[in-house]
Amino acid sequence: MECEIKDFFANPENFYGKEVTISGWIRTVRDSKTFGFLEINDGSFFKNVQVVFDDKLENFEKICKLTIASTVSVTGDFVKTENAKQAFEIHANKVEILGEADSDYPLQKKRHSFEYLRTIAHLRPRTNTFSAIFRIRSVAAFAIHEYFQNNGYVYVHTPIITCADCEGSAEMFKLTTMNLREPLPVDEEGKTDFSQDLFGKETYITGSGQLHGETFAAAFRKIYTFGPTLRSENSNTKTHANEFWMIEPEISFCDLEQLMDIEEDCLKYIVQKVMERCPEEIDFCDQFIEKGLKEKLNKLLNSSFVRIDHKEAIDILKKADRTWEFEPEYGEDLAKEHEKYITEYFNGPVFVKNWPKDIKSYYMKLNPDGKTVAAVDLEVPGAGEIMGGSQREDDLEKLQKVMKERGMKEDQIYWYMDLRRYGTNVHAGFGLGFERLLMYLTGMENIRDVIPYPRTPNNCDF
Ligand code: 4AD
Ligand code: MG
Repeated sequence: MECEIKDFFANPENFYGKEVTISGWIRTVRDSKTFGFLEINDGSFFKNVQVVFDDKLENFEKICKLTIASTVSVTGDFVKTENAKQAFEIHANKVEILGEADSDYPLQKKRHSFEYLRTIAHLRPRTNTFSAIFRIRSVAAFAIHEYFQNNGYVYVHTPIITCADCEGSAEMFKLTTMNLREPLPVDEEGKTDFSQDLFGKETYITGSGQLHGETFAAAFRKIYTFGPTLRSENSNTKTHANEFWMIEPEISFCDLEQLMDIEEDCLKYIVQKVMERCPEEIDFCDQFIEKGLKEKLNKLLNSSFVRIDHKEAIDILKKADRTWEFEPEYGEDLAKEHEKYITEYFNGPVFVKNWPKDIKSYYMKLNPDGKTVAAVDLEVPGAGEIMGGSQREDDLEKLQKVMKERGMKEDQIYWYMDLRRYGTNVHAGFGLGFERLLMYLTGMENIRDVIPYPRTPNNCDF
């Protein structure tokens, strides 16, 4: 009977006394004169299963010489073990060698640095650490869909190729089919003539699906997107990637306070599901990646997040008895060190809301004070800003005014303006950075270690 290791761990009673077959990769081999042990991982589960083999097998000598990462198919008796580390093991009746690994396999049994493992990104999923990280990634993605689907949101596929400017075109990758090795065609003003390009205009790769998402929220009330997002910023930090995944819910008839309720509810749901469904992985992360991870996550589930105005955050920072690399100022953005201080000050996630309008995006709702916008960032220890959202400017004239002040062309997103003409409503949405969420969930400190193949400045390997 061909089996998967995960089923042994889920219900070992189903297998005791039976003959089973597994196929997998060898993690370790140990042998003495007449018998030996193989630790096998078949990819279905975080843990390995132990196989005991002895010299009654005709290929005993060959098995003893097997190298780490070799693939085998083992058929044997599934046996309950007493007083052993593992509750069960397989006593091999047959070990078929499927593929021998060269002895220079880079993942020999010792600790490797995360930096080194990035250089073998094609092999690192086979380590315990990355097995944990990438299974959590998968389970978290599913939980996110589940949360929104359970709550009546419609999943929208917003375009990857776009001409809409949401978070600033300077941060978007430009897209062209023109031959960049030859002089580009120019118009009368001497500027690149994109009318000759494939789409007949200047186009980009999306840096946010929000604007398109808003159009669907004006039809379906509650929507979300979940897809790749690209930003061309040259930010070489532990929390920025040029390609990341973002979840962007958008909700009609929803103000800033209601938005924060949704953000909090959503984050708690994801944390809870990942803890429930990946206990082995979370235990591993708690032990080897971030000591106290489980306590942190449990605390999050049982607390309500602090909500403070940007101004109050600056008050706290200014009162702090310490020096800063960047002096905190009213009217200015929070630096990494400020975010860190605030989350440590409250010892948990903090919503910072009502930001100075000049440092935030044009589409955010202007508050009655005329100085701040109804924007909110959720800051968490470690990953910093994991969610960024706002109530949207639903007043056509006010939106037109800001766009004009910022030198933006209204006609490029006339369809976005139309939402304010045809049944405008108080609405809000946020963007959840999927990788930042994973950093928070696993304790990983570098975004490069929660993305299968990270793309960051000067790095597009594999
Ligand atoms: O704050 P951002 O730029 O907001 C938006 O894009 C809005 N359109 C969202 C919305 O309201 N619908 O990005 C949202 C989140 C950030 O809070 C952060 O978690 C993540 O996306 N993010 C990044 N993650 C990794 N690498 C980067 N370069 C990121 N830039 C933003
Ligand atoms: Mg932001």
